[in-house]
Amino acid sequence: MHLPRGAVLLFVGLILAGFAALSFPGSNRIVEGAVTDANGPVADAIVRWQGTSNCTRTDSQGRYRLLGAIRARALIAAKPGHPIVVGSARQPNLHLQPIPQNDNDEYAWIDPSPNPRQPLQCGNCHGQIHDEWSRSAHGNSATNRKFLHLFAGTDGASAPSKTWNLLEEHPLGSGVCAACHAPTLTSPDLDYDVRLARGVHAHGVHCDYCHKIADAPTDKLGTRFGRDGYRLARPHGNEQIFFGPLDDAVRAGESFVYAPFYKESRYCASCHEGVVFGVHVYGTYSEWLESPARRQGQQCQDCHMAPTGKMTNLAPGQGGIERDPRTLASHGFPGGTSEMLKKCLEVKSTATRRGKEVIVMVTTQARNVGHRVPTGFIDRHLVLVVEALNERGRQVQLSAGPELPPRAGPTLAGRPGWIFGKQHLDVRGRPVPFWQTAHAMLDTRLAPDDADVRTFKFAQDAADIRVRLVYRRFWAEVAAPRGWTDNDVVIHDQTIARESFHEPMIGRVSFHDRRDLAWFTNAHRHRCFSRRQDFDTVGTHSTSYPLDPSNVTSKKMSASHDRQV
Ligand code: HEC
Ligand code: HEC
Ligand code: HEC
Ligand code: HEC
Ligand code: HEC
Repeated sequence: MHLPRGAVLLFVGLILAGFAALSFPGSNRIVEGAVTDANGPVADAIVRWQGTSNCTRTDSQGRYRLLGAIRARALIAAKPGHPIVVGSARQPNLHLQPIPQNDNDEYAWIDPSPNPRQPLQCGNCHGQIHDEWSRSAHGNSATNRKFLHLFAGTDGASAPSKTWNLLEEHPLGSGVCAACHAPTLTSPDLDYDVRLARGVHAHGVHCDYCHKIADAPTDKLGTRFGRDGYRLARPHGNEQIFFGPLDDAVRAGESFVYAPFYKESRYCASCHEGVVFGVHVYGTYSEWLESPARRQGQQCQDCHMAPTGKMTNLAPGQGGIERDPRTLASHGFPGGTSEMLKKCLEVKSTATRRGKEVIVMVTTQARNVGHRVPTGFIDRHLVLVVEALNERGRQVQLSAGPELPPRAGPTLAGRPGWIFGKQHLDVRGRPVPFWQTAHAMLDTRLAPDDADVRTFKFAQDAADIRVRLVYRRFWAEVAAPRGWTDNDVVIHDQTIARESFHEPMIGRVSFHDRRDLAWFTNAHRHRCFSRRQDFDTVGTHSTSYPLDPSNVTSKKMSASHDRQV
């Protein structure tokens, strides 16, 4: 290719001009400096041009070298335990201060709501984060009507409840709930009655509280929970301090502390793990400790605070800088929502005609989840319902397999099916509130990745098999009288028509039901099975949790679970 000389010159000129326009004077220089604190050089501090990926760490002598003296950007040094400090290309030596050692009990919590007359309130500057959080369970944890109804029957929509009312049934235990549901509530009488939460305290788990958490020790996990498990660093006087995941946040008049543990599960543990009145009511963190997700390095935040990709600036027009939206966490905290549940639960069913019977096998599996399903509040459960209809649309009797106990509620009790849940039960197998003594605790929840297989047998006139999986936040007998019509969330609803029934299977069949096992061992006495799991009859997972005396899986209850208790 041959170009006229003038064109080449113009081309070179354009490149040079473009280069000059893009780069700041001196940007190809190296900046050298040191980071110190009161004790001398600080090793392993992060030094970064704010809002860029251009960063390094200090060596054992506290020294660093960083490419590109970007004049338009602040030079930042961050080290956990110290507020972030700001320098520049001209001031490359950075000195770290300690964070205030004494937590301040008298600190006045800042309300999260936007309010132009109160310039410090978070929602004024962090609009997007505020919108997400205010719709989340955290933003409503002190005023959630369902919570208050179980606390004291004050839903307002229905008559005060006679049962499942903590204040009536266990009045001395009422102070416990605020520790996690309204962590900043103060109480002169020390009864911490959540109904009295006003102002900022009524915002439950709010911004200022979460961002004053200076450490989250896990040594007393389960027994010391909510606000009693965290170490806070509330400032004195007019000072302000926030802890967070960023190592380069800056705002005049405020201190930000880079706290990497904000991206770790341990941060959430104190509120999401709790043995309350001796019962292991909340076990999400310990379940996570045992999960495949943890082995793959996934933290609570990766699934529950995943970036939406929509936020590019934390405080637009208020001093925030443009950032990569893929690095900014969301605050909506989706939990047991239909979308989350459908994403992680898979139900596969087969129906096989064998002689005079139709055998239905249902496999339920939870994947891409960091804990058991369901997790969280002890009453959450999944109900698997398997029904066979004959050609006239009538129910066909179950000839073998598990049936749903009365606690599945009047519409489902007695139908073929299975409950996945942590079940805190009285002698008759009815659910009791966690603040009352139970006869047994059954844990039949799904462990992450483990497939649960249930077998149901119907008479041969079965023409259609319908398999449903329903998620319930509360037991039917708690939700129905209170008019909580949103209690049932259908996760799976599938009908297998007789044309799709399988032909008899040849070879190994697995049995997951006691009656199946009896039938099976008689018929196949002389066959050799060596693998223990072929005889695993009851899908009961027992959690070994040293702190929880009541967490014993009652053998008797497990065995009778199939036959309604
Ligand atoms: C339950 C505790 C909790 C509450 C409540 C909470 N945050 Fe956060 N916040 C976190 C955690 C944890 C992170 C770090 C998440 C990550 O990086 O994965 C975070 C991150 C942030 C960040 C850093 C940028 C980002 O999004 O990654 C800002 C800013 C922030 N929060 C502001 C707020 C504001 C404002 C509110 C109230 C409207 C709020 N937070 C409520 C725990 C909380
Ligand atoms: C006047 C505006 C303003 C108000 C009010 C405000 N912030 Fe911020 N906040 C900022 C700016 C600006 C940043 C830095 C943003 C950046 O670097 O992109 C910031 C950053 C943060 C960070 C990130 C710190 C880190 O290291 O991860 C947190 C957390 C935070 N704010 C929490 C809060 C909370 C909680 C409140 C209310 C109690 C609040 N902010 C009120 C403007 C504000
Ligand atoms: C790999 C992704 C993943 C990780 C890691 C993870 N979760 Fe979840 N979480 C989910 C999914 C999916 C659901 C919906 C299914 C369910 O309800 O169990 C969920 C549900 C929840 C629920 C609502 C449970 C209910 O039914 O009410 C809570 C609370 C929760 N998670 C907290 C946590 C905490 C705390 C951690 C860390 C200790 C964590 N999660 C780790 C994916 C995850
Ligand atoms: C100060 C205590 C506290 C902290 C810290 C906390 N949570 Fe929560 N969380 C709660 C409470 C209380 C609720 C239930 C509120 C309600 O339903 O009324 C809740 C609810 C949730 C839910 C919604 C569950 C549902 O049923 O939809 C999710 C998800 C969740 N938290 C995840 C997290 C994660 C992830 C962290 C850590 C980054 C965290 N929480 C930190 C107290 C806390
Ligand atoms: C260890 C912290 C902790 C303590 C203590 C605690 N809770 Fe909770 N509570 C939570 C968390 C976290 C959730 C959210 C879990 C989920 O959604 O599955 C929750 C959820 C609930 C829910 C479900 C709300 C809904 O709308 O689905 C009820 C009801 C409830 N708690 C009642 C109580 C009562 C009553 C007390 C006091 C006796 C109490 N809790 C004490 C942490 C706690």
